[in-house]
Amino acid sequence: MNECSHGIMWILLAVLLISSKAHSAPNNEADLKGPVFLKEPTNRVDFSNSTGAVVECTATGNPPPEIIWVRSDGTAVGDVPGLRQIQPNGNLVFPPFRAEDYRQEVHAQVYACLAKNQIGSIISRDVNVRAVVAQYYEADVNKEHVIRGNSAVMKCLIPSFVADFVEVVSWHSDQNESFIPNGDFVVSQHYDTDVNKEYVIRGNSAVMKCQIPSFVADFVEIVAWHTDQNETFHPKMNYVVQQFYESEVNNEYVIRGNSAVLKCSIL
Ligand SMILES: *[C@@H]1O[C@H](CO)[C@@H](O)[C@H](O)[C@H]1NC(C)=O
Ligand SMILES: *[C@@H]1O[C@H](CO)[C@@H](O)[C@H](O)[C@H]1NC(C)=O
Ligand SMILES: *[C@@H]1O[C@H](CO)[C@@H](O)[C@H](O)[C@H]1NC(C)=O
Repeated sequence: MNECSHGIMWILLAVLLISSKAHSAPNNEADLKGPVFLKEPTNRVDFSNSTGAVVECTATGNPPPEIIWVRSDGTAVGDVPGLRQIQPNGNLVFPPFRAEDYRQEVHAQVYACLAKNQIGSIISRDVNVRAVVAQYYEADVNKEHVIRGNSAVMKCLIPSFVADFVEVVSWHSDQNESFIPNGDFVVSQHYDTDVNKEYVIRGNSAVMKCQIPSFVADFVEIVAWHTDQNETFHPKMNYVVQQFYESEVNNEYVIRGNSAVLKCSIL
């Protein structure tokens, strides 16, 4: 090699060094940071063919991470014209679609969002995407026969192809009564309470029980007891029925200077 070609090589090396330095300049080596999710998608995304859906995924890092959507087997997903798009900002978009364009591998699929830069990569939780085609359905209820006073379980029958997307909001009777689920309901119906007569020897205690039909007993609380003399008794208080009595002290005769025991007699 002669002097001249040595000179050219030094210049080339210098140019290479400068250009590689220029290339990595925005990412200060000390500030390099692996990706961290800013917005991780939710585990379930259910949507209707008429609305479509946008699944967001954003991550931060230095250099800014690239967002890639993958299937559960790890393979990257791409655009499917009119049915699935991946936007430059990382959003996974399912536009509204006609019923005949439904495609299971697009519309009923497990996706995950992968964010990666030169430091490393992170993957989101599974995102279960399900599209449903809006279509007419009817809900139904079977008749249930039970003996009066017993409970019946009524089930709202919803076709399986929409059941996952339908919530029972309320029940209605043909008497215009409304029932909201998760409330404790008893169909209002007439009932009588009763008290058996209790016979006791005067001065002894009697236990009186308010008898409530079993089909409502769980929903009934005893607020007060009333006598036919207009007396009122509230439960959880200690009562003694008031009744007339006299106390009397018997006369005791003793010789002066001795003690006498006086006893108060209560009837
Ligand atoms: C979604 O499907 C329903 C039922 O087939 C159809 O009537 C509706 O037009 C569809 N929505 C769109 C945006 O095509
Ligand atoms: C139920 O309510 C509707 C109006 O909300 C009324 O026209 C109808 O007569 C009611 N039926 C009964 C059984 O009360
Ligand atoms: C009980 O009270 C009612 C009014 O509160 C009164 O009309 C009735 O005469 C009373 N009965 C008795 C036995 O005191």
